[in-house]
This record gives sequence, C-alpha cells and structure tokens, in this order.
Amino acid sequence: MTSPPAPIRLFGTSFQNPVLLASGTAGFGHEVSGVIDLEALGGIVTKAVTPEPRRGHPAPRVAEFPGGMLNAVGLANPGLGAVRERELSWLAARVRRARVLVNVAGASIDDYARVIAGLTDLPVITAFEINASCPNTSAGGLEFGATPESLRQLVRRCRAVSTRPMTVKLSPVLPDIAGMAQVAEQEGADAVTLVNTIPGTLDGRLGNGTSGGGVSGPALLAVGVLATRKVRGAVSIPVIGVGGIRTAHDARQYLAAGASLVAIGTAALADPRVPERVARELERG
Ligand SMILES: Cc1cc2nc3c(=O)[nH]c(=O)nc-3n(C[C@H](O)[C@H](O)[C@H](O)COP(=O)(O)O)c2cc1C
Repeated sequence: MTSPPAPIRLFGTSFQNPVLLASGTAGFGHEVSGVIDLEALGGIVTKAVTPEPRRGHPAPRVAEFPGGMLNAVGLANPGLGAVRERELSWLAARVRRARVLVNVAGASIDDYARVIAGLTDLPVITAFEINASCPNTSAGGLEFGATPESLRQLVRRCRAVSTRPMTVKLSPVLPDIAGMAQVAEQEGADAVTLVNTIPGTLDGRLGNGTSGGGVSGPALLAVGVLATRKVRGAVSIPVIGVGGIRTAHDARQYLAAGASLVAIGTAALADPRVPERVARELERG
C-alpha cells in the first residue's frame, strides 16, 4: 500500500493537496459551495478585492471559443468592507482544511495598500495574491506588472503593509517574465503565481466594447508551463502554476516544471467536479 503524499508546506502553513481554485472563477467560496467541496481542495483564491465596490463591465462578460474562454469581468466585487465583514467571515466559519488566498487589485498602488491594510489582521487569510495585471491609471493605463520599476514599487508597498505572506501574479505576455519574478522576489514576495490571462478580444462577443478581455483555458496550458519552467530556474521562491489545467496530467505538467501548487479556473466553470477530481488523482500518485 502506498502512503498518501505529504502535505505541501508553503506560506508558513500546510496545504493538504496542491489544487487551488483560481482567482475570479469561484467568487468568495459560497458561490460554488453547493457544487464544490472546498474542504477537499488545497484552497481557494478569492476574486479580486478593490477598496470600493465595483460593478464591473456590462454583460456579456464571458465568451467561449475553440481555444478557451474570453472574459472581461472588470474586477466586479463588493469592495473591501463587505469582503471583510461578509465574504471572509463566511470562509472563516466554513473552511478548516482548505487555505484562503485573497486576490488584491486596484487602479493605484494606494488601492492595493488600502485593501491589504484593511484585511491583513484576519487569521483566515493564508496569503495575499497581488494581481499585477491591473492597469495603473496614474501611469497612462499601463499594467503595474509591465515594467520592472512599477512592479518594484507595487510589491515594495504591498510588502510594507502586509503582515501575511504574498504571492505576485504575473501576466504571460511579459517579454522577460523570469526577470519580473526576480523583481518580485527582491521586493519580498513569498511566491509568484503564473500566469494570468492573455489579452484578447473577438468582435462583438464581450460587453466592454473594443477594450478586450483575457483569454483563459486550454490555450494557456503550454504558455503557463513554460513560464513556470523559466521562472523556476530564476528565483528561489515557490511558484503557483495556473492556466489551462483540466486534468491531473495537465497539473503534473506544472508540477514537473517546478510549481508547488496549481490553480484551476476555466475548467471548473465548465465542470465543477474537475478540481476535486484532479486533487484525488494527484493524491493517488
Ligand atoms: C471569469 C474569470 C475571472 C477572473 N478574475 C480574476 C481576478 O479577479 N484576479 C486574477 O488575478 N485573475 C483572474 N482571472 C484569471 C484566473 O485566475 C487564471 O489566472 C486564468 O483564468 C488562467 O487559468 P484557467 O485557464 O484555469 O482559467 C479570472 C479568470 C476568469 C476566467
């Protein structure tokens, strides 16, 4: 008889298995609790939290195409106050074995700092996930994660405010993703999450006009695995691999490339049984 795999140590705690629900695809947990047993998973990454409530982009917010899915949700969320009082208290009361990562977003560095400062005392939070793919409105709309200097400023400020571990989530379209992961590491990130969606659009399929959205799903698998491999060789902090995972075989691609944990998004939207199935199959070895 083979013994079950050892729990994974990360962020000063243990994950019972390496499978997380990816940010933005499982809300704050209660939205999926009727169809996904959170306690069977390594954890959940919440949808992005901003200081104020955001209604997000007009519908339709998602569109399918043969390579995967296109989404333009626009960081819709109830805002820091409601997340603290309502969403995270729900998770704190319900979840024991699964870990909770809170995805943080904003239009300015101050926004990120406000969200972290407003939540960092909550014991339910294992780590913050800094979504570095948001447009920095005070820098002409370029993403925070797009240049080494703006990423440096963002991570430095988040690090100064956070009393919890943090992982920095990077876009797969950066010309030097390994270099950017090094910046995150130098500024005190405890891990990096690879990857966010790839920018894209299809005529008339999204409600936010011509600004476009993000591509997720199967097309991202090979992209994320390569990013994981490149970054793994360049930093000594752990990697959380995400993008295009549908099966345990896909998850193993990330783990073999050096990821410590993996997250599943689009595949769980299509079939909520996928994350538990992947976790079970990985546990079987
Ligand atoms: C509908 C939707 C909403 C998302 N919202 C967020 C978000 O709020 N913050 C974030 O960092 N990533 C967000 N993502 C990106 C996912 O967390 C993930 O990085 C991406 O979808 C790739 O994984 P997948 O192919 O398994 O979906 C979102 C993705 C989708 C499909």
